[in-house]
Amino acid sequence: MLKKFKTFLQCLPFRQEETYPMQIQKIGENDYLIRKMAREDVKELIDVQRMVYDGKIPWTRSAFLSELLSALPHLYLCVEHSERLVGFIGCRLSDGDGHITNIAILPAYQGKGLGTFLLKEIEAYAIKNQCTSLSLEVRLGNREAQRLYRKVGFVSRAVKNGYYDETNEDALDMVKYINE
Ligand SMILES: CC(C)(COP(=O)(O)OP(=O)(O)OC[C@H]1O[C@@H](n2cnc3c(N)ncnc32)[C@H](O)[C@@H]1OP(=O)(O)O)[C@@H](O)C(=O)NCCC(=O)NCCS
Repeated sequence: MLKKFKTFLQCLPFRQEETYPMQIQKIGENDYLIRKMAREDVKELIDVQRMVYDGKIPWTRSAFLSELLSALPHLYLCVEHSERLVGFIGCRLSDGDGHITNIAILPAYQGKGLGTFLLKEIEAYAIKNQCTSLSLEVRLGNREAQRLYRKVGFVSRAVKNGYYDETNEDALDMVKYINE
């Protein structure tokens, strides 16, 4: 009976959730808690976005939830300092590509190495899952973020005209080839 049940479970289209043991990391002068994002974080993630994007929230509650509940393999990480969320990153895998969907760090914590660390963690996850590339879109005018992506090995691939609906702004499509 148990064997039959196990076989039945293996046939269900459920995917094994990615594990990511939480860790304390010293980055620059501070210790940070790095852990997987949970549904309960979404309210605070909205607040983080408001502080990062001058009151705007590019990702709504349902955008976060649909990513966290997605059937595609994904990894969403949060950074905590003094029991407060100070940044996050997300990536979903498809066809051998790890697509970085979102990354943001609170203004007071920017330029301290957190973005670099999170990108490194996502790259390790993509490598572990046999991806051959990482990709992302960034606003053409967001030179600061592009500087970080170039620093960690991304190159420009294309311009996507009018990619951002709200502002009709163009996006730069960037890629990093990995596992070569
Ligand atoms: C872009 C972002 C995620 C980078 O994270 P970060 O933790 O500030 O980045 P790091 O400290 O690891 O790396 C800093 C590098 O990125 C660049 N950089 C990007 N934003 C920076 C900032 N606000 N202050 C300082 N450096 C910044 C610099 O080239 C720097 O390199 P250097 O240290 O050799 O000078 C963060 O600044 C942010 O949240 N920005 C607003 C939201 C955003 O633009 N998200 C990206 C959408 S595609």
